[in-house]
Amino acid sequence: MERKYPHLCSPITLGRTTFRNRMFSAPMGGTDITNDGCIGPKSTAFYELRAKGGAGAVTVSELMVHPQTDGSHAYHLDESILNSLACATYTADAIRRHGAMPSIELSHSGMYAGTYMTDKGRQKSMNQWGPSDTIRPDGVEVKALTREMIDEIVSSYGHVAGLAKRAGFEMLMIHGGHGWLINQFLSPYFNKRTDEYGGSLENRCRFAAEALQAVRKAVGPFFPVEFRLSGSELFEGGYDLEEGCRIAGQIEPYIDLLHVSAGTYQRGFGRTHPSMFREHGCNVYLAAEIKKHVSVPVATIGGLNDPVQMEEIIATGKADVVYMARALLADPFLPRKITENREDEIVKCLRCFTCMAERAATSTRRCTVNPLIGREAEGDEVAPAPVKKKVLVAGAGPGGLYAAYTAARRGHQVILCEKESETGGILKSEQALPFKYEMYELAGTYRLLAERAGVEIRLNTEVTKEYAEKEQADALIVAVGSLPLVPPIPGLDGENVVVVNNYYLEKDKVGSEVVVFGGGLAGCECAIHLGMEGKNVHLVEMRDALAPDANVRHRPLLLQEIDKYVTVHTGYKGLEVTKEGILCEDKKGEKHLVPGTSVICALGQRSRIDVVNELQDAAPFVRVIGDAAKVSTITNAVYWGYHAALDI
Ligand SMILES: Cc1cc2nc3c(=O)[nH]c(=O)nc-3n(C[C@H](O)[C@H](O)[C@H](O)COP(=O)(O)O)c2cc1C
Repeated sequence: MERKYPHLCSPITLGRTTFRNRMFSAPMGGTDITNDGCIGPKSTAFYELRAKGGAGAVTVSELMVHPQTDGSHAYHLDESILNSLACATYTADAIRRHGAMPSIELSHSGMYAGTYMTDKGRQKSMNQWGPSDTIRPDGVEVKALTREMIDEIVSSYGHVAGLAKRAGFEMLMIHGGHGWLINQFLSPYFNKRTDEYGGSLENRCRFAAEALQAVRKAVGPFFPVEFRLSGSELFEGGYDLEEGCRIAGQIEPYIDLLHVSAGTYQRGFGRTHPSMFREHGCNVYLAAEIKKHVSVPVATIGGLNDPVQMEEIIATGKADVVYMARALLADPFLPRKITENREDEIVKCLRCFTCMAERAATSTRRCTVNPLIGREAEGDEVAPAPVKKKVLVAGAGPGGLYAAYTAARRGHQVILCEKESETGGILKSEQALPFKYEMYELAGTYRLLAERAGVEIRLNTEVTKEYAEKEQADALIVAVGSLPLVPPIPGLDGENVVVVNNYYLEKDKVGSEVVVFGGGLAGCECAIHLGMEGKNVHLVEMRDALAPDANVRHRPLLLQEIDKYVTVHTGYKGLEVTKEGILCEDKKGEKHLVPGTSVICALGQRSRIDVVNELQDAAPFVRVIGDAAKVSTITNAVYWGYHAALDI
């Protein structure tokens, strides 16, 4: 068989271990970590699915090497903890049995210990240890590690590495990037020591080198050891790429793979985890440059999900391995689809940050486009239905499409009706915003998957009660979505107003002076896009905060873009839309005209409750999902759609 992506699919040998391909799964923190730091069964299932999906290596994240001076609530590997070794062994085994190499990340947070605690207040009562004494911007005091403590941490790198090998891991990733302890030592910004661990570049690399030597001693000469490095810290005062190349040179003698990431968690989150506002592969240049200065294989990472781009990276020698984190949440089977030339079936990551935000909010994991994420232990196989039924799905938005796809995978006869001439529902409007184009494309991928699974799609077909009853379906999934809210404000029905959902159809009506009416997520994103297009954009929002509906990871990055492109008026109530703009009232009752000849109405959505009511008795089994049930997220629409189909 001729593989379309031969470089991505070719094996690589590191140390004496051969990995089946060049697509590796990056470390992602587990969720059900027990109170004594063991890897819970949900996390094991989470890692196992990525192995099943075909990755060459699967990295288990954040094994804390020295809990005495760290304190993030993460994995430990410690013989004194009952089950610690057993849990790690079960996880390594769960990965290895699918042909992927299990790797585990050894980490120390240093002065940012406690970052992942749900109760951030507790950080203040912990000791935070870093290379040097300092006070963090959030007021937390950091103490410099003593020489004795450094020795102890170095030796625990070795001890934990030995245990990880014993548990069955076949590679180790030593985390030296993203602003954590080893990075703090490497950084001229954080490391102000005057002993042999600070000052010159060689001295700043000493801690990393000693930790790596301890690891090597524990695992032996042929065991693959990987070092995760930020190629550049990407902030004022941190090390740059030129220094990153020299650091790589210092580290190289101790490792088998140099993993080049970027920036720091604390000072460049949207660059370390490239946001939707950045191009795919925006950090590849760091790996490509460093690769010119070292002879060990180099890995790259950051917003990668496109097989053509990833193939090109390997083929042209920019890197030897590509790592993905979020792309493998969106579609754990991405490597397998690439290997089997089924790349058109890849469900792409939207970079919406639901995954990371959910962890911060509820300590669980979710993915907008993949209902299984965080719930892998419930099983990833869609079992055939014992009795084949006729299923009618009303509405081809993301929830309806996913429900139809899942029901068809179960062997049901599925008819998906869409009243408009195109599938996609609310996702159609995303095609106008380049940074959300993948959200629009998602509908196309779901449609392709649904059709390949056997779903019959009927466009321009509205499901009424009569229609549903005539079809005599056994089950009806109501996924009719929502309608834009357009309150009875004078002028809001004017010629100069475009409802945000229709912007993709009526772009030409929008002039160069625009007021966006409504600062929720949709309004903010449209305002950013208009600003990027060079228009003069004002944004009017009645509440004090913009986009409170955006998740905690996306929101700060969204607000950064708003700052660049948009003049914001919060606490302004829109009274009337005129040809010159929106007449508003501030909190003191004073009136202001926010200028703009075009107005975008982005005042929210409301469920299509009339249709829901009409259809509730139109089949024996009826389930309402997505915005039709409650105006909510795509995440919920897809999740509810999936489970509605499983319940039939
Ligand atoms: C949900 C999630 C959890 C992560 N957890 C870790 C972690 O525990 N350790 C780590 O070094 N990086 C972690 N990362 C960062 C990723 O390994 C990766 O560097 C980053 O997401 C950029 O890759 P991507 O664009 O392919 O997502 C995490 C990323 C995500 C999305």
